[in-house]
Amino acid sequence: MYQTILTHTELGICTITMNRPEKMNALNKELIQELGAALDVAKMDTSVQAVILTGAGEKAFVAGADITEFTELQSAGGKALASVGAALVFDKIEQFPKPIIAAVNGFALGGGCELAMACDYRIASTKAVFGQPEILLGIIPGGGATVRLPRIVGRGWAMEMMLMGEPISAEQALQIGLVTCVTETDNLMTELERRAAHLATFAPFVPQFMKLMVHKGMEG
Ligand code: COA
Repeated sequence: MYQTILTHTELGICTITMNRPEKMNALNKELIQELGAALDVAKMDTSVQAVILTGAGEKAFVAGADITEFTELQSAGGKALASVGAALVFDKIEQFPKPIIAAVNGFALGGGCELAMACDYRIASTKAVFGQPEILLGIIPGGGATVRLPRIVGRGWAMEMMLMGEPISAEQALQIGLVTCVTETDNLMTELERRAAHLATFAPFVPQFMKLMVHKGMEG
């Protein structure tokens, strides 16, 4: 059914896998549309109690927005692209009424790091690499890093990551609180499934309201 993602639902957990490994799972328009649609399905499916987001292949979670779609964009087009991404994916994930955990298995750059940050929390394999390299392309992050990154890691690290554009390792991401756990690659999905299975044992409204209250609190 989908061309750019895979979905699998079992034991109350829906795993959505970004599936363009030959392009480092970069977020093109089609993937953004399909991810938005898959989230809508998971939202309506009462058997789903938690969602895991991950990337196909051994190298990338998501290496950012698809740069090849940038070449023709002027400022209005860039703004429209960011708005669509927010509505279909980033804000939808943040406001999603069920917990969503990112399993970061490789490069999480630009929109990929932003996608992981929209999730409730992130766990990473030792191979994961995080970064906001937009400045190196002469643009600013358009998928929420300017808001979510300082909230997660504090203003200093957020500014350093966005101003320098340099990637950080999984271990550094753990030190600054961008991820909560780093595990060997072979163990990543087992670790995620253990956490998601834990969530699936509770009445759905418990994590749902906990998430809502945390977000309301963060908004002040
Ligand atoms: N958009 C579109 N295509 C991308 C991409 C992106 N963000 N990131 C990687 N790809 C593509 C490459 O163009 C290449 O395609 P090709 O084989 O048809 O030439 C393929 O994915 C593999 O990437 P490659 O660069 O050969 O792999 P690598 O292991 O040498 O490097 C990265 C991996 C992630 C470090 C490198 O691809 C990269 O820096 N990508 C851009 C990251 C970025 O700036 N993201 C923010 C965008 S706002």
